[in-house]
Amino acid sequence: MRTMENLDDVRGKRVLVRCDFNVPLKDGAIIDDGRIRAALPTLEELRRRGAKVVILAHLGRPKGTVVPELSLAPVARRLSELMGCPVTLAKDTYGSDARRLVSDMQDGDVIVLENVRFNPEETSKDETVRSAYAAKIARLGDIFVSDGFGVVHRAQGSDYDIAKLLPNAAGLLIQKEVANLSRATDNPDRPFTVVLGGAKVSDKLGVIRNLLGKADRLLIGGGMSYTFLKAKGYEVGTSLLEPDMVGVAAGYMRTAQERGVELLLPVDVIVADRFAADADALAVPVGAMPANRMGMDIGPRTRELFADSIRGSKTVFWNGPTGVFEFPRFSQGTKAVADAVAQATKDGAFTIIGGGDSASAVRSLGFADTEFSHISTGGGASLEFLEDKPLPGLSVLE
Ligand code: 3PG
Repeated sequence: MRTMENLDDVRGKRVLVRCDFNVPLKDGAIIDDGRIRAALPTLEELRRRGAKVVILAHLGRPKGTVVPELSLAPVARRLSELMGCPVTLAKDTYGSDARRLVSDMQDGDVIVLENVRFNPEETSKDETVRSAYAAKIARLGDIFVSDGFGVVHRAQGSDYDIAKLLPNAAGLLIQKEVANLSRATDNPDRPFTVVLGGAKVSDKLGVIRNLLGKADRLLIGGGMSYTFLKAKGYEVGTSLLEPDMVGVAAGYMRTAQERGVELLLPVDVIVADRFAADADALAVPVGAMPANRMGMDIGPRTRELFADSIRGSKTVFWNGPTGVFEFPRFSQGTKAVADAVAQATKDGAFTIIGGGDSASAVRSLGFADTEFSHISTGGGASLEFLEDKPLPGLSVLE
């Protein structure tokens, strides 16, 4: 992979930088600016070297139409505060406003082009459509720096096709992500423990399959655990369930046993009568889930079981909350896992929080980034990396 050090002098050059600024918003305000902060080293380095920095990014999934609530305006404002310099937002990605702003730039200026996903071509499945569109963006730059790690698992116009059209390099964030995630996947210090949560087994099929050949322990919590519990023959009430994945989950449990991978499932759960912040919460063993209640979090015995397993590990990767952490009453499991991972870090383990949502979860529960060895900015991207899948946004830089 070419890196920024391999780029010739960038002074006075227009450098198009793809960032992942897909940040969570509430009522138009950014509630976790981690992805913006993570982009700063590359952006500041390019500015310091006298480049004209032109940023490409997406926000949400506007599906090729202009959705004003998904404008990058709050991102440009936050970036300006963090960088301590003006950051102008173009009204379009490659139209007349973008062209005018770019042509007026001075060395060291920073601008953000409007949400690339407002253009239907960005996510088109037709490569010829995407590359014609990427060519229009490429006219605004001399060099392309790819630094949106969170989007490298997608072959889209502004992270993949554009790299074929300009001299390119990986930015500092991508370099850091690849170095840290490789440390967990290539010959990790053992025991290597993976904690997976989140809603669906079907989202994590590939990663579980691959981890069964790599991890020593696999801890499964969150919405996806009910499909595994069902496969073990338990009543799961009205919990999240993927009936067509029950057989797959049973197969994974058999494979884990054959390969000596310890696969831990919840032994107790917090159930509620409905999906609400003030729902009635009750801890029950997994064998006693009432048919009219839903699992909302792991229970106290499982918290201890998972925490012990995490604390005794040398490498930990965690993706996905163990419960509905957005509701304080059901956030204890996720908090216990975060506490144990933070403790493991203190004890010298190499720990990774994988993913946009998991990163936001630990920050919203009051943990500092420094309590973990690495907080990945990639959700799907870090999982696909663990899955050993080729990531188009990275291979195109090779
Ligand atoms: C993410 O949030 O994981 C990335 O920004 C990619 O977003 P996407 O899943 O909408 O492509």
